[in-house]
Amino acid sequence: MKIGNDFKAFEGRWRFLFVLVVLVAKCSRSLTPESDHNELTAQAYQKIAKQLLDKFQPPAARPRTHPAGSDNLNPKLSHPTSDTTPPSPKMPAENTLTTSFTPVELESLSQLLLELPRLLDSLPGGQEVDHECWGIPIKIGAEETDARFRVVLVKFLRANKFSVPAAYDQLRETLIWRHEFRALEAADEEYDQDLYGQVGLIHGRTKKGGLVTWNFYGGLDNERVFGNVERFLRWRVGLMERGIREGVDFVTRDSMAQVHDYANVSFFSISPTTKLASKTTIQTFQTYYPELLSQKFFVNVPGMLAWVFKVMSGFVNKETERKFVMLGSVKGLRKFIDEGEWPSKVQK
Ligand SMILES: *[C@@H]1O[C@H](CO)[C@@H](O)[C@H](O)[C@H]1NC(C)=O
Repeated sequence: MKIGNDFKAFEGRWRFLFVLVVLVAKCSRSLTPESDHNELTAQAYQKIAKQLLDKFQPPAARPRTHPAGSDNLNPKLSHPTSDTTPPSPKMPAENTLTTSFTPVELESLSQLLLELPRLLDSLPGGQEVDHECWGIPIKIGAEETDARFRVVLVKFLRANKFSVPAAYDQLRETLIWRHEFRALEAADEEYDQDLYGQVGLIHGRTKKGGLVTWNFYGGLDNERVFGNVERFLRWRVGLMERGIREGVDFVTRDSMAQVHDYANVSFFSISPTTKLASKTTIQTFQTYYPELLSQKFFVNVPGMLAWVFKVMSGFVNKETERKFVMLGSVKGLRKFIDEGEWPSKVQK
């Protein structure tokens, strides 16, 4: 029995390490916002090697999803009009977010705007269908009247290091998915609150005024929560959409915060059910919700895990360090979020 227990402890430690490396690997890709439950997935373990490799190599372009024959995407190189009529970076509609766009953001944005008619035409239903992203209408000419539209587009560019073809692909996939999934509607549907209220909720604000979504990993009935993956995903998308609606106006605020609370987590509760749910969730949020999180706070993270994270965080860049905040105990959270803003489930 003792050997069995030792082995369990040993295995548990390795799980912690794996989880940690995933966290750090995700940090190194500070542009991917959502990683709910991903920390616990086996699939994620396989990604580690790739992500670490990527750190030492320039990232390859994302695979293109648009049809063959349409790959003259970079207007700088091949767009018929770009040589003669460079688009003006001046737009009539401005807000506090668009006025602080950098030159590279403005430049890649005007290139992406040139491609927008072709993008919309390529969607199922073409321009007949009303498309939206996070509640903001996506249509030709909207940049003239709606500054929020440009804030949304720039998120896709930032997430792709200003590669216009890659941003084009991700935006296109997102618009198709949102339409099919009816993502906006997910926010207002009825869910089993007794069940999903244990997993996550929107509650309170950070000291800087950002809306906070809380994610809990401990003490869950995994079969009940994750058994119906479709339902779980729909609920989680709905939570994200509500967060955006309540906390991100794309006028003065373009992101929100997240807390990941690992209190009461048993790392032995990983099962095929939770793996599938986490894989589906991570893919959804990585692809369709880029650049929406300002900061992620990890609390009640087991001591050794937090320690290794600290050591390894020496290797990640400052921007990433600012975004991912590893807090051993929940007390450290007071620096960022007043206690009065914490949900009751969080132990003070
Ligand atoms: C952890 O368990 C304690 C005791 O059962 C409970 O009070 C607390 O709310 C739990 N925390 C989370 C985040 O589940």
